[in-house]
Amino acid sequence: MLGSNNRPLINELVSSKLADLIGLPIPAYQTIYVTKGIIKENKPLNDIGMLPGIHFGCQYIKDAVPPSTKTICSCENANKLFDMFVFDQWINNCDRHKGNVLIVKNGEKQHFLCIDHERAFFDRNWKAADLKKHVFTRKIEWKNSEKFYFHCLKNNNFSKPIDKVSKITEQELVKTVQAVPKEWGTSEEDQRSLIYFLSKRQHNLKQWIRDCCGW
Ligand SMILES: Nc1ncnc2c1ncn2[C@@H]1O[C@H](COP(=O)(O)OP(=O)(O)O)[C@@H](O)[C@H]1O
Ligand SMILES: [Mg+2]
Repeated sequence: MLGSNNRPLINELVSSKLADLIGLPIPAYQTIYVTKGIIKENKPLNDIGMLPGIHFGCQYIKDAVPPSTKTICSCENANKLFDMFVFDQWINNCDRHKGNVLIVKNGEKQHFLCIDHERAFFDRNWKAADLKKHVFTRKIEWKNSEKFYFHCLKNNNFSKPIDKVSKITEQELVKTVQAVPKEWGTSEEDQRSLIYFLSKRQHNLKQWIRDCCGW
């Protein structure tokens, strides 16, 4: 939320753009301008003290539900769980519990979407120095989440998503990070450290996946 700490907005926008680069399923999103009038007319926005200005917005998926082992395994795009797993290792997303995956029904079929990347990189309050210092740290807290998707990962098909992440160029990372609105207050050093963090981590993914999955 726009205010004293805009890191969650940066984390959501940069993560969504990176998700797009590897084709990870997420709801449609864009930066939006929230006016004083909108805040005044919407009590929940008022109650949380939202400030007018540029925010991160994403499509609200009506009737979406959290996954169960059964529903996630029968998703049309269940193979993308590998991509989600690799992505979370890459961006250091420590918050992939069931509440941050949506199951969307479409008649007899269903697919999953990933949401809530506000704790990516080095959490909600990262500083440039954290990203430089902790470039190879994994702050992943799996909580009870691994059960619901590890069940589906029988084929251990990690090569494709690792390859997709590895092929993202520095130029693409620069473009992604530079798309962050100036109003959110990222300094040049913040931008440089984020690019450094992501580009260094691209090359450790294989080892990390081996470490945690025995792949
Ligand atoms: N785009 C969306 N479409 C439908 N439901 C959503 C969407 N984004 C969030 N939700 C629901 O709201 C809950 C909380 O949202 P989330 O972005 O995870 O915020 P936080 O975990 O920080 O409270 C989610 O677990 C999900 O149930
Ligand atoms: Mg959440």
